[in-house]
Amino acid sequence: VRDDPPAVGDYIANYIVKRINDFAPKADKPFVLGLPTGSSPIPTYQRLIKLYKEGKVSFKHVVTFNMDEYVGLPKDHPESYHTFMFREFFSHVDIPPSQVNILDGNAPDLVAECNAYEARIKQYGGIDLFLAGIGEDGHIAFNEPGSSLASRTRIKTLAYDTILANARFFNGDISAVPRMALTVGVATVLEAREIVVVVTGLRKALALSKAIEGGVNHLWTLSALQLHPWALIVVDEDATSEL
Ligand code: GLP
Repeated sequence: VRDDPPAVGDYIANYIVKRINDFAPKADKPFVLGLPTGSSPIPTYQRLIKLYKEGKVSFKHVVTFNMDEYVGLPKDHPESYHTFMFREFFSHVDIPPSQVNILDGNAPDLVAECNAYEARIKQYGGIDLFLAGIGEDGHIAFNEPGSSLASRTRIKTLAYDTILANARFFNGDISAVPRMALTVGVATVLEAREIVVVVTGLRKALALSKAIEGGVNHLWTLSALQLHPWALIVVDEDATSEL
């Protein structure tokens, strides 16, 4: 538990940098980092950029896989997760764009796109550290309530609550929010060697309590982390208010 979102971002960024730096000299393969979008990870990205500019970390030997992407939103739309990731993080650090993997929500065959994504993760030997956020309904990536805990990368219809929550990024226009997304599955996340989740703000307090004080269940998909041997949830004081 940290005081506020900037302190949460500081903690997680330092944690990730330590992992990358401990890993890099020993490995003959890149460090594979899973990444989320949303407002919660922004302080982490800002701190990572700062640490990069101070020469404390390089992303040249890091390969990234993003959690999810909207279906049907043009790649260069200001709210596509592709645009978000380059705007908030990738454009500010030294990661070669060829090492960035983001699901293509405009692929002609979406099922093939999801299967190829899973295969690419395997090719790299799996994800070393998956950073995640959560939705107000406890979803991890876009694994909405009711998602199978054995789910893999697939097409997901967004819950109405998620569409409402994400309308703030589309000038409050609910009709502009895509109805579907591609997302890694709960099992894809659970297969990462390590999972770090950022949960900040009062809006997430109920989901946090359901996921860590309730049982493992598919209605609050974050709760699946209880099954993982090495999962860390970093929260601010506000997020703890229902615990
Ligand atoms: C979207 C993303 C999730 C993310 C969530 C939270 O639904 N698909 O991966 O965790 O937003 O967003 P925020 O951090 O802005 O509350």
